[in-house]
Amino acid sequence: MTAITESVRLERDGDVALIIIDNPPVNALSYHVREGLLNGVNSAVEDGAKAIVVLCEGRTFIAGADITEFGSAPKDPSLQDVQTVMEGCPVPIVAAIHGTALGGGLEIALCAHYRVAVATAKLGLPEVKLGLLPGAGGTQRLPRVVGVSKALSMMTSGVPIGATEAAEHGLVDEIVTDLRTDAVAFANKAVAEAWPLSAIRDRNEKLAEGTPELFEEFRASIARKTRGFMAPEYNVRCVEAAVNLEFEAGLARERELFMELMTGPQSSAQQYYFFAERAANKVADVPRDTPKLDIQTVGILGAGTMGGGIAMNFLNAGIPVTIVEREQDALDRGLAVIRKNYERSAKRGSISAEDVESRMGMLKPSLDKTDFSTVDMVVEAVFEDMDLKKTLFAEFDAICKPGCILASNTSALDINVIAAVTSRPESVIGTHFFSPANVMKLLEVVRGDKTSDAVIATTMALAKKINKVAVLVGVCHGFVGNRMLFVRRLEADQMVLEGATPAQVDRVLYDFGFPMGPFAMSDLAGLDIGWKAETSTSSSIRELMCESGRRGQKNGRGYYTYDAETRASTPDTEVEDIIKTFAVGQGIEQREVSDQEVLERLLYSMVNEGARIIDEGIAARGSDVDVVWVNGYGWPVYTGGPMFWADSVGLPEVVSQIKHYQETVGADHWALSPLLERLATEGGRLSS
Ligand code: 3HC
Ligand code: NAI
Repeated sequence: MTAITESVRLERDGDVALIIIDNPPVNALSYHVREGLLNGVNSAVEDGAKAIVVLCEGRTFIAGADITEFGSAPKDPSLQDVQTVMEGCPVPIVAAIHGTALGGGLEIALCAHYRVAVATAKLGLPEVKLGLLPGAGGTQRLPRVVGVSKALSMMTSGVPIGATEAAEHGLVDEIVTDLRTDAVAFANKAVAEAWPLSAIRDRNEKLAEGTPELFEEFRASIARKTRGFMAPEYNVRCVEAAVNLEFEAGLARERELFMELMTGPQSSAQQYYFFAERAANKVADVPRDTPKLDIQTVGILGAGTMGGGIAMNFLNAGIPVTIVEREQDALDRGLAVIRKNYERSAKRGSISAEDVESRMGMLKPSLDKTDFSTVDMVVEAVFEDMDLKKTLFAEFDAICKPGCILASNTSALDINVIAAVTSRPESVIGTHFFSPANVMKLLEVVRGDKTSDAVIATTMALAKKINKVAVLVGVCHGFVGNRMLFVRRLEADQMVLEGATPAQVDRVLYDFGFPMGPFAMSDLAGLDIGWKAETSTSSSIRELMCESGRRGQKNGRGYYTYDAETRASTPDTEVEDIIKTFAVGQGIEQREVSDQEVLERLLYSMVNEGARIIDEGIAARGSDVDVVWVNGYGWPVYTGGPMFWADSVGLPEVVSQIKHYQETVGADHWALSPLLERLATEGGRLSS
């Protein structure tokens, strides 16, 4: 064994040299890994090795470039230097893949002559998720191996494929079981049978598929999903270059487009966001080694909209669920919805028919809360009613075993008040899922004053296990996400009273990058939630809308009118009249509200509220606020989230406008956050 650099060593197994990389946690391509690879190949050849295997220690093959090196001066050797040496190597190089071969990692593997992988390995080019494109030849080599269509979908989605699929597309040459032994055997066979040392750069046959029509159709197919993002289109342009240019010219085009993205605003926002999500899972005052409770079974109370979706998360992760309702009908309905969702997934091919049955088989329906006596965690998802929740938590306290975590899915209520009815407030926590709970990635984990470290650590770890992005928040009305949403809603409603139209407000947010604005969202949810005709007194726009039979999308009439067949929405002058008449009756002067004012009042009010949330310690860091808004409310990730976006605008500018609206609009929520004011003065950032 010879150490080449701090993270790379050379070993020998007969005629085969093994270059072994050990750069925890994910074997990223830090400069010492690049140096180790380059010198390792040269040394192995000098030492007379007949073949080389590149293998990684730890949990994964190389998971990409070292993102922490982005933004600092590049250190030699470059990734391209390493690739040149590998591709020109006179003896076969075999990449032996386990875990994830991602980004620069896959681009290294594409410069080996052969690739073997264990069946659980995944291979992909996720750069698009960082607002980038694969900048080390990946865009030119991948289509030459897997074909143009497959490369386009892998690169623009960033989603890795499994080893079996990779083998079907020629990206993996052999699936192996014992990675090291089998890779060495494979290398020996390549030598014994004198397999060719062909480089991927010389293979052009799969590029013929790339007709102009194929690119046109592909662009149309991703247009909706990638609206506003630069990187997907840039990835497509690179594949076009692979088809239309010679290899070297294609590489040059890739480099040019890569640099444009790398120095642009979207990629810096998306790179920031990558680390923001990972930071969110770390809790400063809960030590990393806090012992966690073992959650093997979960109970859920309420099989309504949220309870059913929450149950699916646990079932998907192989955790059996007991779901309890108060009436058989509601239980049957809840179960039927879960089954229907699973069957839809099976129809789409994302799970198998057996998966549907095995997941449903892990779900135990019941009408009896005492069935929670053996579970390790209970999640309550009944109506949003404090008295009801208090009664139920007192019952959980009597039924559940010691140590069982008692969680509430409340979207705004005080977890401390709920905890206080139990004899074990240390076991009580909020788990605020977002609707649809089986789809939305965000989980706000709400810590009460007395919630124990073990319960917090367990819930954060469990969130990761069920594939959620968790953010720990403190108790206040609406926590982080809804509290900021309430403020935005107040501004939206106020502006339509002053003369903006619902369609204008929605359009401004849509153009900013949100999937929809507040009025379209209200129509989708239904305007009559919580509204009763008997008690309605024409005292708000919503009451007036409901009174005039406008219930939202469900009856085709809300803030917009909806086409019965296509569901396409059109603004409605009748709605504008209802609003105007009401506003004039309230003595509100009508005026034209500019798009810029709409944007600033919607978003600066949220930034100010976000800063107050940090002031109060409800969120631990600015980046946590961003993670909540990107994952839970569709804030466009390419602006980083509200806090990062405010930093990009410039805090002095944001503060000056907040002061302006404090004077002109004057509502409580425009009172300037002291933190925001201080940071603006000191040149600080909200997102750091
Ligand atoms: N560079 C630096 N650090 C990285 C990293 C990378 N490429 N990928 C992950 N890490 C760090 C994380 O920040 C985290 O650090 P922490 O423990 O201090 O918070 C640690 O590794 C573990 O990461 P995860 O918590 O995400 O671990 P998981 O096991 O859940 O996931 C993973 C592992 C699938 C590899 C995931 O980390 C991931 O997707 N990483 C990013 C992969 C990627 O985007 N690669 C492309 C990079 S860009 C590139 O290669 C450009 C090239 O084309 C030139
Ligand atoms: P829902 O009305 O769809 O479902 C509630 C279910 O609880 C019903 O099926 C009802 O029969 C059942 N239930 C009521 N009392 C019960 C009892 N004593 N014992 C057993 N079951 C009982 O309500 P939804 O939307 O699922 O909301 C549940 C909770 O989740 C609420 O606290 C809500 O604020 C919160 N929430 C809701 C979101 C949403 O978008 N719907 C989003 C995030 C949180």
